Amino acid sequence: MARVNLKNITKVYGSNTVVDHINLDVEDGSLVSILGPSGCGKTTTLRMIAGFEIPDDGEVLFDDQPVGRVPVNKRNIGMVFQSYALFPHMTVAQNVAYGLEQHGVPKSEIPGRVMDALERVHMAEYAQRKPKQLSGGQQQRVALARALVIRPSVMLLDECLSALDKKLRVEMQSELRRLLEESKVTTFFVTHDQEEAMTLSDRIVVMHDGIIEQTGTPREVYESPRNRFVADFLGKADFFEGKLVSAGNGIVTIATENSELTLTGSTTAAPGEDVLFAVRPEHVIMNPAVGAETPVGALRGKINHIIYSGNVISSIVDCGGMMVRTEATGGSLSREPQRGEEVILSWEPDYLIQLEK
Ligand SMILES: Nc1ncnc2c1ncn2[C@@H]1O[C@H](COP(=O)(O)OP(=O)(O)OP(=O)(O)O)[C@@H](O)[C@H]1O
Ligand SMILES: [Mg+2]
Repeated sequence: MARVNLKNITKVYGSNTVVDHINLDVEDGSLVSILGPSGCGKTTTLRMIAGFEIPDDGEVLFDDQPVGRVPVNKRNIGMVFQSYALFPHMTVAQNVAYGLEQHGVPKSEIPGRVMDALERVHMAEYAQRKPKQLSGGQQQRVALARALVIRPSVMLLDECLSALDKKLRVEMQSELRRLLEESKVTTFFVTHDQEEAMTLSDRIVVMHDGIIEQTGTPREVYESPRNRFVADFLGKADFFEGKLVSAGNGIVTIATENSELTLTGSTTAAPGEDVLFAVRPEHVIMNPAVGAETPVGALRGKINHIIYSGNVISSIVDCGGMMVRTEATGGSLSREPQRGEEVILSWEPDYLIQLEK
């Protein structure tokens, strides 16, 4: 176990700064997901923590000690990457034993520790099989056992579940959570998948173009995203942008390019300031429009199209050229929305999220 601090770490390839002075403090035994689009620097960050890459600036600390001069094999790190890369000619047990041998663990201790690690991932009965005789999920569990068996201080998991199909991935997520909690190892978990990050992590780090956009608990980053990138990357959001005209009594009025909009919510901005708001589709309530009146703070529009995805029905509503999405779980709808129907969209004031401009 170790507390990990990244202090201003930076990596430059040629003229490209791919990790740009990032700072991150990770508590002992906690699980942090690094989430972000392809190429944003996630793997490079993990490689600096592991010691495969030397930061061009800044430093990595384990328990307040800089590890810059500590080679990879002395950092006591467990790693699992996307391609689980088990040794094909070795049995499951031999694969798991390999790391212990490399770490100079006495021979007499090895079989016991191997079986213990395999039991923890529910793979003990497969100890004598070769990797090709296992399913993808089983191979993944062996890879995890191989990483955990050395009792690492820090675990680095890079897209380690992405090769699995959805159902297996979800199963593995809860197993992984249990395993990591049991072993109380500080874990960095890299993923593209926001749902996976939400489910697994104590904290989420959202990266974009080599920088950290936001760090927080899953609830914090989802409910209070700082900016458009985070709001858009984690979940769905529709945006309202303009100059603030007035605010008060639970209503904000903004001047957009071609009209004035009243929205339910509040703001810390002053009139005249440029503002940006977001609302998440699952918070938008849709009702049939009755009469000509549109309540103050609500939007009036016509259902442009409807997307049925089993558990959720999404309606995309054209509010005078501005598309706003609503989502409802199937059972919660008293009637099916109809294309072309005229509707009123509204939400509770707390659901209007003010973003940084
Ligand atoms: N050895 C290298 N030499 C030059 N450029 C590199 C090298 N390794 C990575 N890069 C570049 O650095 C950027 C970040 O790469 P990185 O692998 O960290 O991204 P990532 O966030 O892990 O992406 P993905 O989700 O696709 O795995 C990319 O633009 C990549 O092309
Ligand atoms: Mg990567």
